[in-house]
Amino acid sequence: MKICVLPGDGIGPEITAEAVRVLKALDLKVELEEALLGGCAIDAAKDPFPEATQKLATAADAVLLGAVGGPQWDSNPRELRPERGLLRIRKELGLFANLRPAILYPELANASTLKPEVVAGLDILIVRELTGDIYFGQPRGIEVRNGERVGFNTMIYSESEIRRILHVAFAAAMKRDRKVCSVDKMNVLECTQLWRDVAIEVSKEYPEVELSHMLVDNAAMQLVKAPKQFDVMVTGNMFGDILSDEASMLTGSIGMLPSASLDENNKGLYEPSHGSAPDIAGKGLANPLATILSAAMMLRYTFADEAAACRIEGAVKKVLARGFRTGDIYEPGTKRVGTREMGDAVLAAL
Ligand code: IPM
Ligand code: MG
Repeated sequence: MKICVLPGDGIGPEITAEAVRVLKALDLKVELEEALLGGCAIDAAKDPFPEATQKLATAADAVLLGAVGGPQWDSNPRELRPERGLLRIRKELGLFANLRPAILYPELANASTLKPEVVAGLDILIVRELTGDIYFGQPRGIEVRNGERVGFNTMIYSESEIRRILHVAFAAAMKRDRKVCSVDKMNVLECTQLWRDVAIEVSKEYPEVELSHMLVDNAAMQLVKAPKQFDVMVTGNMFGDILSDEASMLTGSIGMLPSASLDENNKGLYEPSHGSAPDIAGKGLANPLATILSAAMMLRYTFADEAAACRIEGAVKKVLARGFRTGDIYEPGTKRVGTREMGDAVLAAL
């Protein structure tokens, strides 16, 4: 198993170090190689996704990513921003299917800002299209028209792009509760009218799965009102970006949420759903569990090793049951630990 490790910026190096320790502890045949992505790559090579990284990431079976970004690069031109590196690696590796599970661990029911009864037992999978939509659509820019500046982007989806992500959602639902909710804004946007039409067409191939549709504004409301009505939610790049951050808070902390971004052959990039948290970087305070759980997703989706994935997830459950908590999920009566100690606890549980 060839894994390219991209620690990135901020807390990225600390949290990936713990996930790497976990992978190494499993006695799998893994080959790990590190490279630069994001702000650290801009500093070292004046490119957020340098050629050396492109080569390594392309040759690897899977990529483990920490996080990118930080205030020191925020005023750079767009091409020299850390986020640009992330968007380019997604696009260049063809990672169109972003899976973001939101699972509430019973031990963390009180960490959510929602009432425990609203979120208890929550298990949602958000399937977000990751290489299209307004994120990549042309034309785009800021220019002067009639003496004033205008900014513009293009929301665009081809039916083949919609179809392939819908297939991912339906296939995932077949292994879960067999419900897919497709999220769009068809009352206003033609692009998402096509999305809905194609969703209905694809659903005919999955008669066992119940398809529903929801407008994105209502979906945002329903996620906090009655989140347990959802099994798989599927949507475009921008709506998925927003809804997945919202869903993460149902589970108590974005520090618990892993993600997988897959191409057509299950090659994948695995990263926590959270960012680089520059405010706590280098302090050993960050929660490494989302990254460790991302490593579990890697074993499941790219390497088809369900047993190893379950071992990691089981160890994380044990660690929570034993009361270990980083600051983001701490509550009185539990044991507050740092990044390294949390990694130690997972290794001990393994
Ligand atoms: C995410 C992030 C990225 C996105 C940013 C950092 C470009 O918010 O992975 O959700 O918008 O896709
Ligand atoms: Mg986001």
